[in-house]
Amino acid sequence: MRTIDRDDEKEAVKLIDQTLLPREYKIVECKTLDELIDAIKRLKVRGAPALGAAGAFGVVLACTNEKSKETIKTKVERLKKARPTAVNLSYGVNRTLNAAMHGKNMQEMKEYALEEARRIADEDVAVNKKIGDYGSELLEDGDVVLTHCNAGRLACVDWGTALGVIRTAIEKGKRIEVIACETRPLNQGSRITTWELLQDEIPVTLIADSMSAVVMREGKVDKVIVGADRVVKEGVINKIGTYMHAVIAKSHNIPFYVAAPLSSFDLKRSYKAVEIEERSPDELIFFGAEQIAPLEVKVYNPAFDFTPFELIAAVITEKGVLYPPLLTE
Ligand code: MRU
Repeated sequence: MRTIDRDDEKEAVKLIDQTLLPREYKIVECKTLDELIDAIKRLKVRGAPALGAAGAFGVVLACTNEKSKETIKTKVERLKKARPTAVNLSYGVNRTLNAAMHGKNMQEMKEYALEEARRIADEDVAVNKKIGDYGSELLEDGDVVLTHCNAGRLACVDWGTALGVIRTAIEKGKRIEVIACETRPLNQGSRITTWELLQDEIPVTLIADSMSAVVMREGKVDKVIVGADRVVKEGVINKIGTYMHAVIAKSHNIPFYVAAPLSSFDLKRSYKAVEIEERSPDELIFFGAEQIAPLEVKVYNPAFDFTPFELIAAVITEKGVLYPPLLTE
């Protein structure tokens, strides 16, 4: 199934619980807005485009049995704040809320919200295929691509952005291998990217984040492709560790690409004005149930970082590939 969808009979949002991968493949159902907000906060559903769809379907839940437009607006503010960094969550919520507000009664508001949410989910798949088409032209037969976090079908509704580029290149007959960085502390790379690629029989090698310099110096990486949580006026905000890989890629003359839909663009905003989500110290003090650091240690755990355009060779979008200086205009 898609990463996120709606069960019409049960009136529930269905999603693949990504916290359980790769051990278990489980679909969870969120029948209330609170359940969906909890799933977003716990990263059961994650990745910028998937959060956009989650936000959209969340508005449908907010409209359920609710006739006051003001109450719906208040409820969805909580949804937008569930994860503040990826702009797609607000994008999905705002678009669906606007559609719902055209409804004259409770029934119509919910209907309009549902239509818009479905549109957002379907658009995401189509947009990723276009990103794949444009991006695959940047890859050559035999390339090894390093990626960070998970910007695959599990971060989107389907297909993926960074991994979508790789999928399309393979579909076009190119032989591509992937190096997946584990992406500490929540390990989206080792848990989700490797699982997703192995499902499609795409060759993948897992490395620790701290190995990216050495694999690049050893000539084992041809290109780097990552996704984005928000493209801002000076660069790209993405999973913590992205900036480190970009600096290393630059110093080894390896092209560093970002694959992102226009729904992730927020070009009027500076990176300084974006809230970078800080996550619980427990993510570093524990590894699963195991304590791996003193309980009293001071922890700094931002979930995302900022990479300036100077380090980025191009941004691959559904409308084409943007090269500098286009990005800075
Ligand atoms: O904390 P996460 O797992 O939601 O972070 C996800 C990322 O940083 C992805 O790289 C980004 O959302 C792009 S997904 C196409």
